[in-house]
Amino acid sequence: MSGPTTHTGRVAVVTGGARGFGAAIATELARRGAAVAVVDRDDAAETVAGIEAAGGTALAVQADVADPDSVTAATGRILRRFGRADILVNNAGIIVAGDFFDTDYDTWRRVQAVNLDSQFLMARALAGSMRRNGWGRIVNVASNTLGLVAPHLTAYIASKGGVVGFTRGLASDLAEYGITVNAVAPTASRTPGGEAAITEEVLRLSARMQAIKRVGEAGDIVGAVCFLSGDDAAFVTGQTLVVDGGWVRA
Ligand SMILES: NC(=O)c1ccc[n+]([C@@H]2O[C@H](COP(=O)([O-])OP(=O)(O)OC[C@H]3O[C@@H](n4cnc5c(N)ncnc54)[C@H](O)[C@@H]3O)[C@@H](O)[C@H]2O)c1
Repeated sequence: MSGPTTHTGRVAVVTGGARGFGAAIATELARRGAAVAVVDRDDAAETVAGIEAAGGTALAVQADVADPDSVTAATGRILRRFGRADILVNNAGIIVAGDFFDTDYDTWRRVQAVNLDSQFLMARALAGSMRRNGWGRIVNVASNTLGLVAPHLTAYIASKGGVVGFTRGLASDLAEYGITVNAVAPTASRTPGGEAAITEEVLRLSARMQAIKRVGEAGDIVGAVCFLSGDDAAFVTGQTLVVDGGWVRA
């Protein structure tokens, strides 16, 4: 596999890697030399096939990252196969929009479980391996909606606020082990999940509000994730990097 060697020798775990942002992240981490476990509730065969066709190493792991037993089984399989985990990209998430008065408790809980609880479960399962090796990188996917007037997204924005808080707290707990924890906050983007939940009108409106006036795409957060998961970001932790075409100023 030819490409930059910034991640050579690392084992990366990317959740929600069957499509969208996660597939783009997994593919680029592999191109940069990492062996990548692609975790998804759906079949991640396409992402893995693309990586292998380019000469990289990848493993598809089917799991529901919101389910503790499923996470235990998936991470056990990854650690048995690769012997370690160095990088965790907590990307899996669901965008659920709806009027507050139509949002029932089950929907609220599901959004928090998939978008936030999953990041705790994955980090709890894999940070021990990073601690043993004295090196680790955790990158959590948040959202720029936290800094916007974005109606009908209360459960979603609350979950992403939790992601930022989780990132800050965990960064303090893991720094002494050589593990950094950061977040990236994308804008409304043309991914399968984005296009299913966000209307074309809102995608175009978002583009107009950004300093860079085009609709976000799956590849747009890849560079930031590679930076935060590499050696160059060794002194950066607890931060949320807004990667949204220059809309929200953090
Ligand atoms: N697309 C956007 O507009 C946008 C904007 C800001 C933030 N984000 C965030 O980016 C991340 C990725 O979103 P995307 O747009 O690529 O979405 P997507 O729906 O295209 O891809 C998400 C992937 O996560 C997987 N997934 C969902 N729930 C899962 C679960 N419980 N267990 C395992 N896998 C699961 C899906 O199967 C899918 O393959 C999410 O955290 C989302 O909140 C997206």
